[in-house]
Amino acid sequence: MITKLCTIIANRNDTASIDEAATVIRGGGLVAFPTETVYGLGADSMNLLAIEKVFKAKGRPSDNPLIVHVADLSKAYELAEEIPGKGILLAQSFWPGPLTLVVRRTSRVPDVVTAGLDTVAIRVPNHPVALALLQKFGGGIVAPSANLSGRPSPTTAHHVLEDLNGRIDMILDAGPTQIGLESTVVDVTTDPPVILRKGGLTRERIEKTIGPIADSADEQLQRRSPGNRYRHYSPKGEVVIVPRGDSATLRAVVKELQLRSKKIACILHSIAEREVPTTVLVWNVSKVHEEFSHDLFRIIRECDRLDCAAIVVEAVDETGLGSAIMDRLRRAAEPGKQ
Ligand code: TXA
Ligand code: MG
Repeated sequence: MITKLCTIIANRNDTASIDEAATVIRGGGLVAFPTETVYGLGADSMNLLAIEKVFKAKGRPSDNPLIVHVADLSKAYELAEEIPGKGILLAQSFWPGPLTLVVRRTSRVPDVVTAGLDTVAIRVPNHPVALALLQKFGGGIVAPSANLSGRPSPTTAHHVLEDLNGRIDMILDAGPTQIGLESTVVDVTTDPPVILRKGGLTRERIEKTIGPIADSADEQLQRRSPGNRYRHYSPKGEVVIVPRGDSATLRAVVKELQLRSKKIACILHSIAEREVPTTVLVWNVSKVHEEFSHDLFRIIRECDRLDCAAIVVEAVDETGLGSAIMDRLRRAAEPGKQ
């Protein structure tokens, strides 16, 4: 397969590029495109061969279902057997946006999309290029994050190219994505609904809209999201999280790591750079969660590129987006899960 790079501007008026992308998808091809969260790898949600290619290009296990992206709520009704009241309220409040709803599906949705589950995950992304593409194509577009399985989600077209060059047909490049973390996945088939994956839409905003939601730390609930079975965001180096503001622990951890690791990186937001030896690479990130989340996957990829054997990260407080940031950091720090 030949990779055709297409650089476009984040501007829905660039109709030629959008038209071309829609044509590639209609022909069963794969197009990576920007959303407000991360770049997605798009294919026609009704084309079995194209969906197979998505799994193959990413090296994704076939029992991990895909999110179907649609242009608006009316299109979601075509895929869902029913959308419960709280789901509709969430969709009306946060679509287009970083929210994925898991609802009962109709038999029209192919089994390969949902990995055989009787539910389907649906999202309306909030990005002019993604929306223009969805409108032009007309139907649903499956779009997992456009990374190789096990790598951090891509927040730039360059990250997509790094992972999928030669495996896909086209990339729509609209610069870095705004949020930098994936969408929040909410299962609304139960009452109260459950957050299956923390993400760009905070629990606080969801609860303000529909009231209390179930505790997603519950292991049985977590198992409802197949994505939780797999290791995500695994940098080459080991990841160690140190408590926020705890420079004594940071120093001790770095000292111990230096006994066995040559290249160490630190990602810090409130601890001063002078607390670590000058031989350690330091990324100073913003204390503002929105800015940290925007940069997180880019920094982790950069640590990989530089062959860092260990990454020490200062924890953030778990309010708002901080909760999704800590979720991704813990997954990155988790040893061993495939
Ligand atoms: O922000 C995002 O959601 C990005 C952009 C491109 O839209 N997409 C994305 O897709 O992160 P992916 O495939 O990397 O993650 C989808 C997650 C997985 O954890 C998967 O298991 C879960 O959603 N999922 C999909 N369908 C599901 C279903 N029917 N029930 C439960 N979980 C589901
Ligand atoms: Mg992913």
